[in-house]
Parts: sequence; C-alpha cells; structure tokens
Amino acid sequence: MTKKPTAKKSVKEKTASKYKYNNVLVEQRKDGITFLILNRPEKRNAMSPELHHEMDDALERLAVDSNTKVLILTGAGKAFCAGQDLKTYFRGLSNDPVARSRAAAASESWRSYRLIGFPKPTIAMVNGFVFGGGLTPIVSCDVAIASHTAKFGISEINWGHIPGGLVGWNVNQVMSFRDAMWYSISGDTFNGKEAAAMKFVNFSVSHAKLKSETLKIARKLLKKNPWAIRYTKEAIRSVRDMNMEQAADYLRCKSDALQRVDKEQGRQEGMRQFLDEKSFRPGVGTYNRKK
Ligand code: COA
Repeated sequence: MTKKPTAKKSVKEKTASKYKYNNVLVEQRKDGITFLILNRPEKRNAMSPELHHEMDDALERLAVDSNTKVLILTGAGKAFCAGQDLKTYFRGLSNDPVARSRAAAASESWRSYRLIGFPKPTIAMVNGFVFGGGLTPIVSCDVAIASHTAKFGISEINWGHIPGGLVGWNVNQVMSFRDAMWYSISGDTFNGKEAAAMKFVNFSVSHAKLKSETLKIARKLLKKNPWAIRYTKEAIRSVRDMNMEQAADYLRCKSDALQRVDKEQGRQEGMRQFLDEKSFRPGVGTYNRKK
C-alpha cells in the first residue's frame, strides 16, 4: 500500500493562535516554541504606536501562557524592524501629548521591561534590516541570531537625531565602546557576520538556514529545567552591575529560592542520574527530565 503524503511539517507543528492583532503575528507551535512576529512588512516593520500597544499586550499574555516555553522574536518580510515609525510615532503624535506618552510607555515596556523580564528564554531571530529603536529588543532578548545578510544600523545620526529611547544605553551593553561610538556617530551599517564578530548577536548563519538554526537553539533550551533556566537568566543579568560581595549574597539567595520553586527538583534528580544511575554526564548533556 502506498503511504499517504504527510501534511507539511510547518502546518502540523502550529496550533491555531488565539492571539489576534493588526500589526503583530503570534504563531504557537505544539512543541512550546512561539514565534512573535512584527508584522508590518510593507513598512519594514517600523514601530507604530498601535504596534507598541499590541506587542506590550502580547508579551504580557505570552509570559503566563503555558503553551509558550521559548519565545522567538522576528520580523515579517525583508526587515526585522526599521525602528520607530517616523510618520506615526514621531510626527503623528507630536500634537497629542497623552497618546504620545502612552505610546512611549508601551514602547519602553515591551522592548525592555517585558522582554528582559520574560520568564522563559527569548531568542531574537534577525532576518533583515534593523535600525535605531529596532536594536533595543534584540539586546533585551537572551540570545540573538542573525542572517549573514541582515543589515544593522544605529541610524539616528543620519536624520539628525541621537540614539535616544534606550538605544544609546543598549548598544553599550553588548558592543565594545569603540564599536558603539563608531556606529553611532558614523551611521554606517554592519551585516550579520560583522554583528556576530562584534558580539552584538551570538551567531550568524546563511539566510536560508536562519529559521532551522534558530529552532535548533530553541529546542536545546526547551530541554533544560524551566525553573533553573529562568533563575539563571535573571541571575546572569542581575549580577552584571553588582560588586563581588553583593553578587555572592544575591546568588546564594537565588539558589535557595530555586530549590523552593523547582517543581521537578532538578538538582537532586540531576545528581541522582549522574552519581547513582550513571545515566548521563552533566558536563556534556542535560539530565533526563522525563524520568
Ligand atoms: N518610519 C516610517 N516609515 C518607514 C520607516 C520608518 N522607520 N522605515 C520604512 N518605512 C516605510 C517607508 O516610508 C515606505 O513607505 P511607503 O511605501 O508608504 O513609501 C516603506 O516603509 C518601505 O520603505 P522603503 O524605504 O521604500 O524600503 P527599502 O526596502 O527600500 O528600504 C530601509 C528599507 C529600512 C533601509 C528604509 O526604509 C529606511 O532607511 N528606513 C528608516 C530606517 C531608520 O533609520 N530608522 C530609525 C528610526 S529610529
């Protein structure tokens, strides 16, 4: 008997999304990986006030959605994000201080606080153009991967502005001082390969492999103990600005807290599987969470 052709993988893996927005697409896959997609391809995903409000809402909901275990942030079409929408965000709100203030709050909220505080791993998948304020969410994600051909730019200088919002601070978090300064004052672009070499992103891959390589990263993170990975990402960020004594105290408290919240008691189980069962080696793999 001839086998029936199987349905296309991408279709099978997705679940019908309950999230409906005008400028944002949420694709939830059955394995717990969620794509959150800036969806204004005809405007190169420039961030309008409405997009900011929708992203803020989506991230608030996905943070507590048990069907989302790893989040991948990307853009539809040929851009990741062309920065703030100069027409609707800057010019359009210039005479409406209330709407301007609301949009500014949503803009900072989702790109910094919600992404940084997201309780599950976040991956920025940089597929194309990314300028100005579009850099911020990449810095806020835990991991970033770019297409070799993605085009990055701290372009504010090119239109007589400064890297405001938090862009000037963001670039200093992940770039060397020399690179942050040069790209901010020259407005020159850099590609995905260069972004990986200067550690603005972790990895750069060919455009054709961007999605599959991003999914590999997501699947790797999915295997880890979710309580431990949450506490680890929070700890790695928090200790950056602490002195040694503060960090030691904070990490001791964080470790103790993890033992309380970890529903699968991973530390004990990991030690058991390594020391008693000898079924895995923690240096080169993850313990079996299904046992
Ligand atoms: N704000 C408002 N509109 C924008 C925009 C932005 N940041 N970026 C792109 N768009 C709009 C364009 O105005 C154009 O709209 P239209 O079709 O109604 O004329 C549409 O998106 C497509 O842009 P276009 O320039 O034709 O596309 P492209 O592929 O040739 O170039 C970019 C893409 C990203 C290089 C170019 O659009 C650009 O330089 N954008 C601004 C980037 C920037 O400096 N952003 C920083 C803001 S803080």
